[in-house]
Amino acid sequence: MSLHARLAELASLGARGAGIERGLFSAPEHAARTRIAAWAREAGLAVEQDRAGNLFVRAGDPDQPPIQCGSHLDTVKEGGAYDGAYGVVGGLEALERIVRSGVALRRPIELVAWAGEEGSRFPLGTLGSSVYAGLTPLRALDALIGDDGVAFSDALHGPTGLLADVPLRDGFPALAAYVELHIEQGPVLERAGARLGIVSAIAGQRRFAVTIDGIAGHAGTLPMAGRADALCAASDLVLAVERAARNVGEAVATVGQLAVEPNQINVVPGRVTLRVDARSADEARIDAIEQRLREAAREIAAARQVRLAVDLLEKRAAVSMNARLRGIVRDVCVRLDPRAFELPSGAGHDAMCIAQVAPAAMIFVPSIGGRSHVGDERTAPEDLALGVDALVATMVMLAAAE
Ligand code: GLV
Ligand code: MN
Ligand code: MN
Repeated sequence: MSLHARLAELASLGARGAGIERGLFSAPEHAARTRIAAWAREAGLAVEQDRAGNLFVRAGDPDQPPIQCGSHLDTVKEGGAYDGAYGVVGGLEALERIVRSGVALRRPIELVAWAGEEGSRFPLGTLGSSVYAGLTPLRALDALIGDDGVAFSDALHGPTGLLADVPLRDGFPALAAYVELHIEQGPVLERAGARLGIVSAIAGQRRFAVTIDGIAGHAGTLPMAGRADALCAASDLVLAVERAARNVGEAVATVGQLAVEPNQINVVPGRVTLRVDARSADEARIDAIEQRLREAAREIAAARQVRLAVDLLEKRAAVSMNARLRGIVRDVCVRLDPRAFELPSGAGHDAMCIAQVAPAAMIFVPSIGGRSHVGDERTAPEDLALGVDALVATMVMLAAAE
């Protein structure tokens, strides 16, 4: 089955509204993992899963540290068809091609579909890769409650959690190297007329959960003076976050998720929960945003007579890609596309976790119009194919090497 046909089939799983919705352990996400496992087995490849929900496809010795590639199958709400899915399907095609070619390898090769990269159901992004890399203890997942109120362990052991017919792997074995193929999700390659990019570094990212407790009441009878309106306090905080990122420079911060209770036109909002996502290649800038967020929370709580709690959900350090691997990826990419160049990633990836325990590198292909995390995310088919060529060549070099 072609790369294009597989991506189209995955895109049909969870299609909803203007895009795709495949939260971790939802029915469509389970269906996507099922498809990958079936395609892998059809190709004669061995399939396993682990207790974090990661899915593995391997060719070669099961006991040796592999050369891994991979990405994720979950999406953001109304997400696109390529973010994550491309790296998984492209990785599967790479394994198939390498095995078919009969090239002699010294190391096994492995594809991983990492569980819950987006953090779009459970409040922890790069969930599976952070457990694999030891950044999140496996038992910490038991405390996670999804945005739909379902506990992680119930979802994992439920009908759309672990795959019924796939062996469960114990532990998180060492790997030799990791290469992630991904769409760029920004406009840099397209503007430069390049078809491949070599990722130099991935921006650090911090996520916070904010809870604001005010006092609910009748919208018609409570005088404006003396109200403790949780949504008005939240509005101040959202704007403070925006200002903080603008003032600190070369950083971004976003409030993309907010819930109002009771969310009724004639009731003064009593409670708001929201999440803040702050990123920069420079940790000091993220520190500055966090400091300003916490100061603003204190100021707004006092000024508006609300209770305001800020909790850190997730902290992922900015990370450079491994210099040696990057050099190999650069040589491969420049051979396939003389305009290929190095660029940093503002988006987070599983590679940022795996880079903490093994040499890691990434290959980017252009995103049309730089669009991503939206339903009209696109990459030209010939660029998708070239990215897989680059992954194949890189994996062969790494797996054939001493
Ligand atoms: C993942 O796509 C992220 O950067 O949030
Ligand atoms: Mn992604
Ligand atoms: Mn994403």
